[in-house]
Amino acid sequence: EKYGVNINGTDICELRAIDYADENGHYNVVEYLLQNGIMDNLKEDSKFLTSKFPEVKLFSKSINSYEDLYNFSIENNEEFWRTLALNRLEWFKEFDKVNNGLDFNDYENYEHKWFINGKINVSVNCVDRHYKKNPNKTAVIWDKDEPGTEQYVTYSELYKLMNKFSNMIRHFNVKKGDSVIIYLPTSLYAIAAMLACARIGAVHSVVFGGFSSESLASRIQNCQAKIVITSNQGVRGGRFIEFKQTVDTAIETCPFVEHVLVYKRTDNPFQVNKDKDIIIDDIIDTFPDECEPEIMDSNDPLFILFTSGSTGKPKGLVHSNAGYLLQASLTQQLVFNYDCEKDVFGCLADIGWITGHSYVVYGTLCNGGTTVLFESTPTYPDPSRYWQTVERLKINQLYLAPTAIRLLIKHGDEWLKKHDKSSLKCLGSVGEPINVEAWNWFYEKVGEKRCKIADTWWQTETGAHCITPLPCGSNDILKPGMAMRPFFGIQLALMDQNGNESDTKHIEGMLCIKKPWPSMAMTVFGDDQRFKETYLKPYRGYFFTGDGAFFDNDGHIKITGRVDDVMNVSGHRIGTAEIENILSEHPDVAESAVVGVPHELTGEAVFAYIVLKETQKSEQEIFKQLKNLVKKKIASHAIPNTILVTPNLPKTRSGKIMRRILRKIASNQIEDLGDLSTISESNVIEEIIQSFRSMS
Ligand code: PRX
Repeated sequence: EKYGVNINGTDICELRAIDYADENGHYNVVEYLLQNGIMDNLKEDSKFLTSKFPEVKLFSKSINSYEDLYNFSIENNEEFWRTLALNRLEWFKEFDKVNNGLDFNDYENYEHKWFINGKINVSVNCVDRHYKKNPNKTAVIWDKDEPGTEQYVTYSELYKLMNKFSNMIRHFNVKKGDSVIIYLPTSLYAIAAMLACARIGAVHSVVFGGFSSESLASRIQNCQAKIVITSNQGVRGGRFIEFKQTVDTAIETCPFVEHVLVYKRTDNPFQVNKDKDIIIDDIIDTFPDECEPEIMDSNDPLFILFTSGSTGKPKGLVHSNAGYLLQASLTQQLVFNYDCEKDVFGCLADIGWITGHSYVVYGTLCNGGTTVLFESTPTYPDPSRYWQTVERLKINQLYLAPTAIRLLIKHGDEWLKKHDKSSLKCLGSVGEPINVEAWNWFYEKVGEKRCKIADTWWQTETGAHCITPLPCGSNDILKPGMAMRPFFGIQLALMDQNGNESDTKHIEGMLCIKKPWPSMAMTVFGDDQRFKETYLKPYRGYFFTGDGAFFDNDGHIKITGRVDDVMNVSGHRIGTAEIENILSEHPDVAESAVVGVPHELTGEAVFAYIVLKETQKSEQEIFKQLKNLVKKKIASHAIPNTILVTPNLPKTRSGKIMRRILRKIASNQIEDLGDLSTISESNVIEEIIQSFRSMS
């Protein structure tokens, strides 16, 4: 079937895009007239066309529902993405092909290549084109820690700052393809640093400010970064955080780091190492505010972002320029029904996580929007912080993690009542399953039953939303706690216990994605083998997400949580093995096993079982040391909530720790331990249960 516009019996254009929902929630066909000089590149919707040219007849079947458009996006997948890529992004040179046609079947040879031979620059798309059109529009509102001290930054100001920053890092010998570590608080300079890297083709790796010096060091080493960009301190919740000190300790083991560029977030003094440190504030204004952008290939890496997996060390997922940007910007606009002209987008995530990358920075700026950079915490100076920020900045879309909602519910509704939330149009949830109580509170108390909630499922690996309803601006139905449906162009599958794809109704299984999508991570930095083994090998022909899901009778999706050894604590991903490795470094620990257990505030909490060697130390002393060790080596959010000493760990006959059982015991589901026949020594379980009972 052909789609397009026909005038007086002549096909005058082909259908190029379908890219927004109208006020009734109908997805209008957006036609881009390609041919017949008269209408070259004219972009209008079908209503406009038919009113202006009465002789125009749309010969496309009309697309009036999510299902119509979803089916179109799957059946015409290449056409769908091609149209969007051509019309939404600015190219130096358009691509020849949408993708390389590979799927996940021959996974050993899978290569992620989209928009082949396209030439593009992400910073041009995110800043230059909006600066040219609308220089005085606010690009960024930096909501600093201290309420009321926000800074508004126009596209013109951002353009100049980004260019100066680009020239500055080029001056320090950073070239296309080099890695740059950004260890900065959520601040204007963090955005400038990210965009500057994108502009000159350097590959940034932002490290979340909560990570310890050792975690930071291992990331610097993994990318072999020559430059680290940081600040003297961070300011969060009224407290100072010693960013620079952490960097100084980290680079003791990274002799290849040539420079540390330091931005002065506070006026407090800090140690300056004359050989390496450069104070950004002292020199940035000496650089010109114009900087030629590097011409990047669609599939050049834009950034590396480390995330935890079920084994070993965190892996650096690599994202592309074009495919990543396209899906981040498309979802930012469609999922939240974002009005790029007027709306203020309040994604409250830290820039150190993928949510910060895709929705604070790249997606929203690519759409020419106004993005909020939130530096503070939900409870500083008091639990009304979010709501007073909504009122003060007139935020239209509020996007946050369920953990914050659960925390604020505990503080009571009083904090909400004082603040005007009428600017809000749409709410979003991300990072972990949202429980029904939190969903209802968010909907009723925050959105005042007026704003719908997009429960968005995705991962560092997927780069952008993959499962979400499209509730805002439409009559799309919602079910509390459910992520509902695949986004356009995304084909899902649920795998049963035998590794076969099951029906998509009333079934629980392992969540997989069937076909590549533009914003999928390209590889694990420096370890393509690991990428393929982690994601493409478990179910041949599919991308395995690591999550479990349930499809209800209507085929709507609920995410049930991780099915591998990855925990989700306050929306932060942590591998059980990462913590076990640290615990086992302690001289008194013989063995350890870490599991995640449900927690009413943080979603999951870290529960550690340890087996001790002969020791003179008290258990309390050891616990304290272990907690400090985890904090020092990983981050505070990885500290075990509970540590339990047991005489032994349950193992299979082949020596594998039986985590399934440990998880059940730690969650106090002792009556329901399931099949114990494979355990090598059956008395071990009894001993662990006894230790657990005596602890509680
Ligand atoms: O388990 C899923 C959970 O977060 C994981 C991805 O974590 P990360 O890569 O850090 O990215 C977080 C921000 C996208 C997933 O494997 N997750 C994410 N969103 C949801 C979710 N779980 C349930 N519902 C969601 N909406």
